[in-house]
Amino acid sequence: MDNKELIRQALEARERAYVPYSKYKVGAALLTKEGKVYQGCNIENAAYTPTNCAERTAFFKAVSEGERAFEAIAIVGGYEGAPSDFAYPCGVCRQVMMEFCNPKKFRVITAISEDNYLEKTLEEMLPHGFGPENL
Ligand code: THU
Repeated sequence: MDNKELIRQALEARERAYVPYSKYKVGAALLTKEGKVYQGCNIENAAYTPTNCAERTAFFKAVSEGERAFEAIAIVGGYEGAPSDFAYPCGVCRQVMMEFCNPKKFRVITAISEDNYLEKTLEEMLPHGFGPENL
């Protein structure tokens, strides 16, 4: 699957963001090595701290369905309307990626649109990360 299609799926997931508090809508699309996509959106909570980021929603959906091997994730975020800036994953989400992905190979795509995106490896996003290999 190409980056454009993965971004399109992240944009679609963003439509389902549940964000009554921040109003900041994030969508993610996680691609497995076998080519399956798991979508995720952020899900907020009146108690604030139970809020789940879009990226972790996608990862937890996938892992809970038995997936362990991932290739890339596309992320889009912003207030109402189309994204206007690149949305980078928070530190907690980067750490969750570190648990399941090869930091040298896993691609993190942050997008404004299907044609306007940046791509980095997880290692670039989380240098000197701590993961399963360290235990
Ligand atoms: N958020 C994400 O979904 N992903 C990130 O990587 C950064 C933050 C969400 C959490 C919260 O619902 C809103 O964006 C504002 O922080």
